[in-house]
Amino acid sequence: MPEGSVVVVGGTGGIGREIARHYHSQGRHVVITGRDTDRAAAIAAEIGDGVTGIGFDLSDPHSIDEALSDIGPVAYLVLVGIARDNNPMHDYTIEDAVALAVMKLVGYTKVVHALTDRMSDDSAVVLFGGRAKDRPYPGSTTVTTVNGGVSSLIRTLAIQLAPIRFNALHPGIVGDSPYWAGNQAALDATIARTPTKRLATMADVVGATAFLLENPAMNGENLHIDGGWMLM
Ligand SMILES: NC(=O)c1ccc[n+]([C@@H]2O[C@H](COP(=O)([O-])OP(=O)(O)OC[C@H]3O[C@@H](n4cnc5c(N)ncnc54)[C@H](OP(=O)(O)O)[C@@H]3O)[C@@H](O)[C@H]2O)c1
Repeated sequence: MPEGSVVVVGGTGGIGREIARHYHSQGRHVVITGRDTDRAAAIAAEIGDGVTGIGFDLSDPHSIDEALSDIGPVAYLVLVGIARDNNPMHDYTIEDAVALAVMKLVGYTKVVHALTDRMSDDSAVVLFGGRAKDRPYPGSTTVTTVNGGVSSLIRTLAIQLAPIRFNALHPGIVGDSPYWAGNQAALDATIARTPTKRLATMADVVGATAFLLENPAMNGENLHIDGGWMLM
């Protein structure tokens, strides 16, 4: 494994926090980020010793250079942060769409730009998209668009910043992720359309993220993790 930290942008909650826990349990120095520095520091302390918390807003890309200035060498970078934009075309609002579009398409890219000088030739990056890029749902206008954008973004990054590797991971509904808690009807409907009759778990997604980061032949790929949901 390359020298340096594992940086998880969006590591204060949900799937990102599980990725941070995984690499902390492997003895790595981990940096997690969220919007608020105090909250990020508190969650970092909760994960354990050697975890650092940083606050910045991905939808304000001009703040990113300074926010990341104290980070040392970076082995792996995971870009997992999201703010959901429920934005149906018949009732379209610009502000939330702009925030999410900037966050995933410009914010993710700016984090890579800010940290490139601290990565080594064997560093790797995983960007999170999602299955909404292929199967839209009502209101997924911006989510579908930005997740589709992530699937192309990795290709230009993998070429321009070679030999650093860039891959994207696209989950379907992750059944035990906090975002879906209390929405059993949606989970049941998705299970009914999934050949494996189970949803991907956060542990499954952590495993897929580690595979993309650590397998030196994985580069420029979009990996889907949904139990075959798109087959039905
Ligand atoms: N959960 C699923 O079923 C599912 C399905 C498909 C795809 N995905 C993808 O998987 C990724 C993780 O999803 P999740 O459900 O684990 O998300 P989540 O629980 O909602 O966590 C979102 C993370 O993003 C951070 N964040 C939110 N707004 C931010 C902003 N403006 N700037 C910086 N950080 C911000 C949050 O930190 P703070 O709250 O501390 O600011 C938190 O750490 C996302 O990219 C999502 O598109 C998830």
